[in-house]
Amino acid sequence: MNQKQKVSKKSSLKSRDDELLKLEAEYCSWGDTVHYAEKLNIFSRSEGIYLYDREGTEYLDLQMWYSAANFGYKNERLNNALKRQLDKLPQLACQYLHEEKILLATKLSQRIGMIFEEKGRVHFNVGGSAAVEDSLKIVRSYSGKNLVFAFMGGYHGRTLAASAITSSYRYREKFGHFSDRASFIPYPYCFRCPYEKKRDFCDLYCLRQFERLFETEYHSVLNVKTGKCEFGAFYIEPVQGTGGYVVPPQDYFTGLREILKRYNILMVDDEIQMGFFRTGKFWAIEHFNVVPDIVVFGKALTNGLNPLSGIWAKEKLISPQAFPPGSTHSTFSSNTLGTAVGLETVKLIEESNFATEVPKKGEYLVSRLRKLAKKYPQIGHVGGLGLAIRIEVCQKDSFTPNKELTDAITNIGLSGNLDVGGKKRGLVLDVGGYYKNVFTLAPSLYITEEEIDLAVELFEEALKKGIAATA
Ligand SMILES: Cc1ncc(COP(=O)(O)O)c(C=O)c1O
Repeated sequence: MNQKQKVSKKSSLKSRDDELLKLEAEYCSWGDTVHYAEKLNIFSRSEGIYLYDREGTEYLDLQMWYSAANFGYKNERLNNALKRQLDKLPQLACQYLHEEKILLATKLSQRIGMIFEEKGRVHFNVGGSAAVEDSLKIVRSYSGKNLVFAFMGGYHGRTLAASAITSSYRYREKFGHFSDRASFIPYPYCFRCPYEKKRDFCDLYCLRQFERLFETEYHSVLNVKTGKCEFGAFYIEPVQGTGGYVVPPQDYFTGLREILKRYNILMVDDEIQMGFFRTGKFWAIEHFNVVPDIVVFGKALTNGLNPLSGIWAKEKLISPQAFPPGSTHSTFSSNTLGTAVGLETVKLIEESNFATEVPKKGEYLVSRLRKLAKKYPQIGHVGGLGLAIRIEVCQKDSFTPNKELTDAITNIGLSGNLDVGGKKRGLVLDVGGYYKNVFTLAPSLYITEEEIDLAVELFEEALKKGIAATA
């Protein structure tokens, strides 16, 4: 193709994107999160850690569909599992059984049983929020209580019930009164301690503040005369996801667990974003040496292919007597395409070495980012667990949140105009955090050292441009 032909092909691809964007503006609801962005990208292909636009520009993806595609785009083994099921049993009403559903539930229950030394069962659904809803039903039916605790900065989804236990009022504001809104407790976010303490000397002050709620009836959670608490469960994310990949102090959850046990409050562990080795363990809670009563999972179980989510609960909560037939149902809840991929994902995990590889890669990425932080005071904090990594973007004082610079870097990455080694590329970043100033990095678990190097170079290029644009 000569230069003239190349230019004409590029302009016809560009005009096709313009046509599509016009249609999108008119016919797609804007109620999702697409229009958070300044510039809308249309992607047409993916492979490994990359997304590609119609012109073939390569975008290195450091967020992998908010950790739903942990095992890389177009993972051949997982795609083949889907293709095989397409030719075998692509559809089946969920009231009938199929092999993969039973085997997947067995594998997950046995693995969890081994980790937590607890017998339990698995119930499937579609999408994280739907699984959160199922877990709420179990909490209500077991405890007889509608109210729960959850964390400030916590995210559990945007269906009505999931919004009620998600900390942002922004997600509830337009949708009426939420009588079962959670009581939100400060999360141990040590870089910005809600009590302005320093970790080295705090003696987990935040945990003691939570414990104090139970001291007198006038703190409004406990009838001290009967010992009965008004709250049935505490919803936790072992590492906060949307809240900005915040990792708690090592001993926080053991302390919390003890308090909850004292008052018969269930612990519900939301692993939707951090499960399936994002943090270097099958479940993120395994880092913290506590046994939850319910585990909720979704996202990476199918690597972003046919969605499948679910819950595991202790036998006493989910036995056929406690949660009888018909307690919950959704047409697509244990869809055969999802269970086939889910089963293959668990087998792939069993045959891989993520427990060693993920922490190693995470440490390398964090060490490279910490070097950048030394050069740029605008990087206030770098940290994480496994390959769930945070970069907190600040003003020059390395502390005051800098959303403007965060947005600029995001948009520069999505422009696809970064130049590293003479090649034009893009960088896909996700933003989270209480002040929307944290890059929540969730790269493919298969990312290589060379790809990490490239990612850091691209990030530095975007950071430099962002600093110049917002100066
Ligand atoms: C921790 C957590 N819980 C729940 C959800 C909701 O899942 P979904 O978006 O699949 O409904 C998410 C989604 O990002 C999440 O990160």
